[in-house]
Amino acid sequence: MQGLEVRGLSKRFGGLTVSENIDFDLRPGDRKALIGPNGAGKSTFANLVTGVLAPSSGTIRFDGQDIRQLNEAQRVRRGIAKTFQITTLFRDLTVRENLRLPILERQRHGYRFLRRADGDVRTEAEVTDLIDQFALGALADRKVADLAYGQQRLVELALTLALKPRVLILDEPAAGVPSSEIHLIVDAIERLPDDLAVLIIEHDMELVFRVARQIIVLVQGRILTEGTPDAIAADAKVRELYLGGSHD
Ligand SMILES: Nc1ncnc2c1ncn2[C@@H]1O[C@H](COP(=O)(O)OP(=O)(O)OP(=O)(O)O)[C@@H](O)[C@H]1O
Ligand SMILES: [Mg+2]
Repeated sequence: MQGLEVRGLSKRFGGLTVSENIDFDLRPGDRKALIGPNGAGKSTFANLVTGVLAPSSGTIRFDGQDIRQLNEAQRVRRGIAKTFQITTLFRDLTVRENLRLPILERQRHGYRFLRRADGDVRTEAEVTDLIDQFALGALADRKVADLAYGQQRLVELALTLALKPRVLILDEPAAGVPSSEIHLIVDAIERLPDDLAVLIIEHDMELVFRVARQIIVLVQGRILTEGTPDAIAADAKVRELYLGGSHD
């Protein structure tokens, strides 16, 4: 199977079970959201998939291959990426200068055979593509420090895309973004490459219901239920437990 295939995944910290027997698939083109209360185990699940944490039991396959022995950097090179934290942006560099860095890093591993001049041309073409894709043209030559918070998160997303991932995990892309700037994040997610497999972990339900085609509800480390946005919005257990009885 193409994409991620997680079976029976569990994680215990001492006596505390934070992931319990999770089955999860993420295929090219998917737009899934993982929601649930604080402490439900959403970030832990992302960390198990990206290799930050080792599972207590269960399997993780990518394109049919067991990837449990790969560390985080090796999984990134296979194409499994999680958004950079904003702290990894170089605040005194421009947007364009920041975008160059992950591209050069990736090329160090991939295009060693290229002559330097060819590499430069290729790098600048990729930077320009990313700037266009994320509609960052007007901001490209401004320092990251001078951008609005939502715009910084957009740059962070563009940086992750520079790694050319096939699986993208967004852990709270809208966290801390003022409501007036959430549309920047929604637009960026909607413009991601069609064949990318995307998992969005998010508390902002407006964003979740705008971009997800499938929603998984995690409670105390277990999948409570999963389904289409309509089915989840109508689910009595979800309304009671998580959405506070109303969502429209
Ligand atoms: N390294 C760790 N050692 C011990 N317990 C941990 C560790 N990391 C997370 N936990 C616990 O695991 C549980 C799940 O945490 P996790 O961060 O995955 O939740 P979350 O769903 O992402 O929450 P939030 O919505 O607040 O981000 C919490 O009870 C947390 O305290
Ligand atoms: Mg979290």
